[in-house]
Amino acid sequence: MKFNTICVLGLGYIGLPTASTFATSGIKVIGVDINKQIVAGLQNGHLHLYEPGLRTLVQAALRSGNLTINSQPEAADAFIIAVPTPFKEQKKADLSFVESAAQSILPHLRKGNLVVLESTSPPRTTVDLVAPILDRSGLKAGQDFLLAYSPERVLPGQILRELIENTRVIGGINAASAEAGRDLYTTFVRGEIILTDATTAEMVKLMENTSRDVNIALANEFSHLAEKYGVDVWEAIRLANRHPRVKILNPGPGVGGHCISVDPWFLVEASPEITPLIRTAREINDNQPQHVVDFCRQKLGTLKGKTISALGLAYKADVDDLRESPALMVGELLNKAGAKVVAYEPFKIDFSHPDLKVEKNFRDAITESKVLLLLVAHTELRNLVPSEVAQLTAARMVIDTVGGWEKEKWEAAGFQYFRLGDGKSMQGK
Ligand SMILES: NC(=O)c1ccc[n+]([C@@H]2O[C@H](COP(=O)([O-])OP(=O)(O)OC[C@H]3O[C@@H](n4cnc5c(N)ncnc54)[C@H](O)[C@@H]3O)[C@@H](O)[C@H]2O)c1
Repeated sequence: MKFNTICVLGLGYIGLPTASTFATSGIKVIGVDINKQIVAGLQNGHLHLYEPGLRTLVQAALRSGNLTINSQPEAADAFIIAVPTPFKEQKKADLSFVESAAQSILPHLRKGNLVVLESTSPPRTTVDLVAPILDRSGLKAGQDFLLAYSPERVLPGQILRELIENTRVIGGINAASAEAGRDLYTTFVRGEIILTDATTAEMVKLMENTSRDVNIALANEFSHLAEKYGVDVWEAIRLANRHPRVKILNPGPGVGGHCISVDPWFLVEASPEITPLIRTAREINDNQPQHVVDFCRQKLGTLKGKTISALGLAYKADVDDLRESPALMVGELLNKAGAKVVAYEPFKIDFSHPDLKVEKNFRDAITESKVLLLLVAHTELRNLVPSEVAQLTAARMVIDTVGGWEKEKWEAAGFQYFRLGDGKSMQGK
């Protein structure tokens, strides 16, 4: 199948790189977003999110004339839906964005078109939700137009490279739909393209993220045991991973972002009676911010009135994304416990929060501090030189929740050093 024009709905972390990569590969792309500010910004070459290399790519796509930005869809050969799929109360999947994106395609859907859902979705969303909406056009999914699900598996921070190099799974509601999907993504994908059915492709994405979540929960539970038994979990994990068939992940302050901390709930919500392990893992990881707060309380005696520097607020290292961020939750919980939290997030210096004093530069965030709490392993924070930091702060204690700092260097600079999951340092060994 040949694609001259495609329409990408949703210009966020996934849709914008995808639209721009198609455009720089020679296809006419209409990038659509319902957010008027995002549309106006992009039309003037201003990006609303940070991803390495993305600004250059978007500007090249716009300059080529192949990428146009619009607030509503237009007729095209293919439509790609990359809108958010967050959860609502009680961890129920919020598919309203997928529904409204599918509805917005209706007036433009033509015979022979391909529609691809990329948004992470509960099993059977493509078949049971998207197909019936599109069928309202009078055309029939699988017969008059083609419909596929293709999960996006890129790593924030590496999106532009992974978009091209990763293996891509494309699940069609029938074989012709999957094959049309392959024809579309072959435009720029250099990784393998594997075809399957739509529901399998949906499950694949959810299984990948759930697998990581369960394994991080296991590492977190190991860290609780290590704290109890006077063991350094980081050392123990390193040693256990010398076994040829063991690969334990790292513990930390929790799991965030809008993928790994959200997607497993799509399975739990859909089938609560057969997902006790997935639910428990989610609960363990969701409870980690509270564990960090308890850890801080143990070190500081009381949290009331203590000034704590929260270093990093993003959900993981070297990204600007604060969605579902455990670091942010730690800050909020510390504030609730009576501490005065001064935060620094190098990737979002203009961020503000009612509970936290957010400083624009590192120096202001640590001056009056009692303890430096490392919440995100941003390269800038990992590379801090303890002897230099010692000159800038009243703090003489550091708490490392991500294994980002070296104990010996901080102790040599005059700091007490504690690391989450390190039962040895807790017992002063
Ligand atoms: N961000 C990631 O790293 C990542 C990785 C893999 C999968 N995903 C999945 O991809 C999907 C998109 O994620 P994202 O991070 O790009 O989200 P995002 O919030 O960054 O961007 C989504 C965009 O869609 C727009 N939008 C909402 N409804 C719309 C509609 N009806 N029409 C047009 N635009 C609409 C929003 O305004 C927003 O700009 C989600 O399902 C997510 O789970 C994300």
